[in-house]
Amino acid sequence: MKDWVRKNFKNRVHAESLTTKDIGKKVFLCGWAFRFRDQGGVIFIDLRDRSGIVQIVARKEALGESFHLAEKIRSEFVIAVEGELVARDKEAVNPKMKTGEVEIILSSLEILNTSKTPPFSLDEYDASGEEVRLKYRYLDMRTNELKDRMIMRHKLIFAIRNYLNKKEFLEIETPILNKSTPEGARDFLVPSRLNAGEFYALPQSPQIFKQILMIGGMEKYFQIVKCFRDEDLRADRQPEFTQLDMEYAFVDEEEIQASIEDMMKEVFSEVFQKNITTPFPRMVYKQAIEEYGSDKPDLRFGMKLVNVSEIVKDCDFQVFTGALQSGGIVKAICVPGGAQISRKEIDELTQWLGRDYRSKGLAYMKHGANGLESTITKRFSEEALTKLAKAMNSKEGDMLFFGADKPSIVHNSLGALRLKLADKYETPNPDELNFSWIVDFPMFEKDEETNSWISLHHPFTSPKSEDMPLLDDLMDASKNFQGEVRAKAYDLVLNGNEIGGGSIRIFDESLQTKVFQILGIDAESAKEKFGFLLDALSFGAPPHGGIAFGIDRILMILTKADSIRDVIAFPKTQKGTCMMSGCPTPVGADQLEELKLRAIKL
Ligand code: AMO
Ligand code: AMP
Repeated sequence: MKDWVRKNFKNRVHAESLTTKDIGKKVFLCGWAFRFRDQGGVIFIDLRDRSGIVQIVARKEALGESFHLAEKIRSEFVIAVEGELVARDKEAVNPKMKTGEVEIILSSLEILNTSKTPPFSLDEYDASGEEVRLKYRYLDMRTNELKDRMIMRHKLIFAIRNYLNKKEFLEIETPILNKSTPEGARDFLVPSRLNAGEFYALPQSPQIFKQILMIGGMEKYFQIVKCFRDEDLRADRQPEFTQLDMEYAFVDEEEIQASIEDMMKEVFSEVFQKNITTPFPRMVYKQAIEEYGSDKPDLRFGMKLVNVSEIVKDCDFQVFTGALQSGGIVKAICVPGGAQISRKEIDELTQWLGRDYRSKGLAYMKHGANGLESTITKRFSEEALTKLAKAMNSKEGDMLFFGADKPSIVHNSLGALRLKLADKYETPNPDELNFSWIVDFPMFEKDEETNSWISLHHPFTSPKSEDMPLLDDLMDASKNFQGEVRAKAYDLVLNGNEIGGGSIRIFDESLQTKVFQILGIDAESAKEKFGFLLDALSFGAPPHGGIAFGIDRILMILTKADSIRDVIAFPKTQKGTCMMSGCPTPVGADQLEELKLRAIKL
């Protein structure tokens, strides 16, 4: 590298910092040759740095011999340029460029590095080749789309830190090499060399540590932290993702929720220039499931699930009456303008719901000029059909879809159908930010396979005080408990996505032991798995609670990204692999030897 370049690094200006106010100045810039046009005697180069682009003009007559160097420039070569900033001729002004009124007349040039031709265009975004983009992530990062998302990510994290620092939260790191924490997914394990045959688990969240920080008197904690969960990946799930994790001592759920609303209001306004209205509405879990078929309802549109069991109970349609007789329910949704949905589409929807949601069928009725019509309407009385249309609030041109089964299947399948049809028939406003708290989650749910109780949130969540006595009924096998113990747990939902979840914790050792028992964790394994927490609870644990947010999910929604991968610098694929580094990979025999392990592929 030439001396004039090295000495000038400190004087470097950024492309998009240049305005008409700088005209006449001699400027030095470094960056990548983005676009270039060789017009014989004059070469135009768009130099790109992190700030953006500015046009460089290389004229043969002014540069003499060194013009040959400019002729060698190709896409993505790294260059250093010096020249005078001038106003562009009127007809050459480019209103689409931020620096479109100016250009730099090149006086000195150095090519700092060459580049192979990139495997995809860095100019026009084309989502089709995601695999190639992931493989060459550093090239993708040079596009505006990914760069802007990285900048947004930084701004969000910075604003959160700033806000929480102001509110006297302490950021405290917790271990990555860890003991298993129960968030419901599988653990990633790390073998220990110093303790052969033993393993660390990567944290699914810092849950136990943050509770112990409260017992340690830290009072208000947060951490922007990587969490690791070995689960099946989806568009909004990564095996390693980032949480904003928080815990407070001496709080109740209302105070936590209010403080989160305040943080969201300030941070979203600062980072995304979005004004949000607080307090966010609260909806109890039961209502969310019954009306939207989901514990993360998208409340930007209607198409609610309506229970029509009463109306159809005397009909002659065996599908409905049969479901009701075996203790099930019949529910329906009304799709506005859905009468145009073709028979073929209905067949496809029916198959999809059967395959993914175990539904046995998808009965339907169109609302035509003379009321509800379909092959099954003859099995219903006129009165029932009129009542149905009224209950569903349907009008001519609408379509009713029915689910008849046990409640969980009806809710899951109609809830999924509601979301699937929303884009076409309800078109939710993409700019709306619809927040809601889902509260009063059940503490436990029955695992159908093992017929045992599992935590809906995690085992450290406190039951609601008024439901506390139910725990004894639940533990008494002779009572065959069918009721519901509600938890002091809450999720924050944004446009149908769960962006955060938390709870008030158990801070009493005996209650914690009881909950472990209900979950089938006997005293011995409780001691082995969570003994250190139970111990800590017996040394003056304060009442405490907290919450954690999926930072990647928030960014995905706010930057309107299609996938969580679009907001993470180096994400994994759906199969948990890194296209760039190629991990996971087999390890050498010597490494395994040190760990006293042998790899056998079963
Ligand atoms: P929870 O398991 O609900 O709670 O996680 C909190 C939030 O983290 C995000 N999230 C994910 N994001 C991307 N990929 C994943 N695989 C993934 N899994 C979860 C979600 C979710 O709302 N310790 C508790 C919190 C607490 O009780 O304070 C916990 O981790 O947005
Ligand atoms: P069948 O009598 O099985 O031919 O079904 C008649 C109609 O009812 C078809 O449109 C099926 O898709 C629908 N159907 C069947 N089972 C169910 C169910 N459990 N819930 C809702 N619709 C169903």
